Amino acid sequence: MSSPTTAPDRIEELLSAVKNSFIAGSLVRLKLGGYSGAEPDLKGVEVKKITVKDGDKFSFTYRYKTRDIIKNFIQPEALALLRTGLREEFSSAQLATTGFDMTLERNGLKIRLKRIDVEGRQAPSTDHNRAKNRPLNGSDKPWLKALGIAGKDGAVRADGQDKYRQINKMVEIFAPLIQVLQAEQPLIIDMGAGKGYLDFALYDYLASIKRQVGIVGVEMREQLVADGNANAQASGFDGLSFQTGTILDFDASGADAVIALHACDTATDDAIFKGISAGASLIAVAPCCHKQIRRQMEAGQPAPKLMPMLRHGVFLERQAEMVTDTLRALLLELNGYRTKVFEFVSDAHTPKNNLIVAEKDGRVGRDREIVLGQIAELKTLFGIEQHYLEGLLGL
Ligand SMILES: C[S@@+](CC[C@H](N)C(=O)[O-])C[C@H]1O[C@@H](n2cnc3c(N)ncnc32)[C@H](O)[C@@H]1O
Repeated sequence: MSSPTTAPDRIEELLSAVKNSFIAGSLVRLKLGGYSGAEPDLKGVEVKKITVKDGDKFSFTYRYKTRDIIKNFIQPEALALLRTGLREEFSSAQLATTGFDMTLERNGLKIRLKRIDVEGRQAPSTDHNRAKNRPLNGSDKPWLKALGIAGKDGAVRADGQDKYRQINKMVEIFAPLIQVLQAEQPLIIDMGAGKGYLDFALYDYLASIKRQVGIVGVEMREQLVADGNANAQASGFDGLSFQTGTILDFDASGADAVIALHACDTATDDAIFKGISAGASLIAVAPCCHKQIRRQMEAGQPAPKLMPMLRHGVFLERQAEMVTDTLRALLLELNGYRTKVFEFVSDAHTPKNNLIVAEKDGRVGRDREIVLGQIAELKTLFGIEQHYLEGLLGL
């Protein structure tokens, strides 16, 4: 069926199909496209039904160029938004239900609505909290609520979805690294722990698979430490605690693993240094800004043939990041660690998405001259006097 019309009742016809399929549980999805509204990077909106503790909702995923934003609405709100959107901002809509598809196209006041029957299609599950094979089994946990990721009803909040995905991803990456540690009850130190997202997630997951660990988050901001300890206690996480202080002042002896996520600039080096000094089996850091080396590259004399590249601030920044982390990896190798560097989350979440993972493999001293030579050559090439971590290591 195809019927051009100038009447807005075609929009109402579509909205009524959306509403009925929502109520009947036959809604598969609704997609809105052809956006011409005021938001610069909005590409489209996808709508589905979800079931949370306080009932059925319409879940809108706003797809922007570099990110998605999810917002949930009750039925009247959702239909009002769709009505305005279809009249003023979106020129196309595709509704999929278990029994039929509807396509709406609007060109000015002309509206065309098509309906095609379909067979054998099932409605997706609307259970918002389904496990999705994520390591954190469910979201109704005191610590997720205290960190603002889950709401009072135990469902992940619309604005907590990204963080929830991220911490699950972190657990997927860190848990296997912890699993292979030899110690019966490994001690993990998280340097610059902030609110302790990773620590809570990791502790929760490891406890759920009966792997006993001790985790200590080191953080210089007192309030975060107090909140973290209260949250750990309320969650019954006896082996998780937070301590106020600086990374360099913390006594990390006995640590099996030292980790640091986005500890600012040289705080990452402090964490690496503490890990090496403690002889930790695992050191894993996700560096943040790379100011120390960038400043030296700007002040020093990089090889002239690099200048056409380094005169562009954006490339200087990227080079500073690569050089800083390459030197860190080499300095770890020099101290007996096998290192690898990889992206651990999508750069849509954070541009600071490199993770340096160093595992002690007992080859201290091997290839020492070669590695020292590589460090010296890189420094000369980029006009670097000294990497901060070299100073800590007494080189
Ligand atoms: C960007 S936040 C990251 C927090 C946490 N690791 C995360 O990924 O969510 C960095 C944290 O490190 C802390 N920090 C930075 N330098 C530190 C130092 N030298 N000693 C202790 N804490 C430090 C800051 O107070 C801040 O809370």
